[in-house]
Amino acid sequence: MIYSRFLSSNHRVLQSINLFSPTSCASLPRKVTFARHYTTGPNISSGDLSSTTAPFDPAPLPGTVSHHTSYLVLHTSQPPTEWPSKHALVSPLYGKLQQWAKSHDAIVNFGYDDLPSSSSAQQAQHTNWDAAGAEGESYPATLYRTSHPPLEIASVSHQNYHSVLSAHYTTTNSSASTTSDSTSNAFLDLYVCTHGARDCRCGTTGSQVFRALRKQAQKINSTPSPSSSTSSVASLPHIRVREVAHIGGHKWAANVLAFPSGDWYGNLRPDDASHLLSRLLDGKVWWDRWRGRMGIPQDAQIALHRDGAQLGANEVARHSKELGEDVLLTFVTHDGKEASLRAQEGNNLMEVARDAGLPSIEGVCGGQLECATCHVYLAGNPPLAPASENEEDMLAYAIGRRDESRLGCQIEVTKELAEWVRQGGRIGLPRY
Ligand code: FES
Repeated sequence: MIYSRFLSSNHRVLQSINLFSPTSCASLPRKVTFARHYTTGPNISSGDLSSTTAPFDPAPLPGTVSHHTSYLVLHTSQPPTEWPSKHALVSPLYGKLQQWAKSHDAIVNFGYDDLPSSSSAQQAQHTNWDAAGAEGESYPATLYRTSHPPLEIASVSHQNYHSVLSAHYTTTNSSASTTSDSTSNAFLDLYVCTHGARDCRCGTTGSQVFRALRKQAQKINSTPSPSSSTSSVASLPHIRVREVAHIGGHKWAANVLAFPSGDWYGNLRPDDASHLLSRLLDGKVWWDRWRGRMGIPQDAQIALHRDGAQLGANEVARHSKELGEDVLLTFVTHDGKEASLRAQEGNNLMEVARDAGLPSIEGVCGGQLECATCHVYLAGNPPLAPASENEEDMLAYAIGRRDESRLGCQIEVTKELAEWVRQGGRIGLPRY
């Protein structure tokens, strides 16, 4: 398909380009039956991998995510089959945002918005590059940032992008006038690269994985949450699966981004959909397909993968033999909202809060005392051993540290802790 585009603000036609020239897919690996052998560490999954396709490339996955601390998705209503190989060639706004992203450790990308609107922000009109003229584009967008809840932005345009985005980088308050309320952790957002005009492996395998994930997600989303004895028990996040443009790493197609954690996965195949979703809904990482994470330098991604794979193995062992009875714990957010959650003895507070999607608890390092994103407040003499030296060291990095600060990943759920809660103790969550 030959595209002619206005590529500058004075509407000069700069070039006619054959934008749709994907490499041939004839050489794609055919269906084979063998156990996958990755060089990325032990396979700690319980998924059945006995019948699947080979990875396109056996190069190690961990550490392949370039460092960034935020990800901005522009939601276009233009379907991926109509995307050019490079959006910068057709979208002047994308070009400007890429410049902005360079100075903000950010990545900007297009996602296909074909889901029913889930917030007022997404009901905004899309004005895509092809219909807009050089200065007329505008898109609803979602901004994902480390240690912040995702933000739905009603409209990003040439006219407002600087002020809208700057507002979120210069204040910690998410109430800028052009944005909607935060979606917090109510959603598990998955973006599958299906950008076939860029690389046919993404177009074929990416599309297959996208369809498989969306099918699984629809099933899960339509399953009623189990009833609970308390009205404030958090339910599973709603899963939104969308297609996204080129993210880098065609050879590891299918590639998937998962938010709010910011984890990147690669070498996925359609029969991985169910296992990936169950890991993510459990708040766990699938280390065997993990490429890296937003907010973590590449060498640290490799180290985290090494530790995480081991942690995962330990986790499986611990969960199979040590988890005890259900108890009830009550968390309270920085603005006073209480959430009573069922938790199993033997879990830790980070896992309980993170799995329930409570705000401000991320557990980025998986409980390895390397991140302080599991910061909680435990005031009023809870029945706990004092913090270890390592916990104290990491607490120095906690934002809003107080005398009663602890790291939730180091606090085990016990009957004694539940009794303290029953008598009025509360597990406080920081604002950030
Ligand atoms: S989860 Fe990273 S320090 Fe607790």
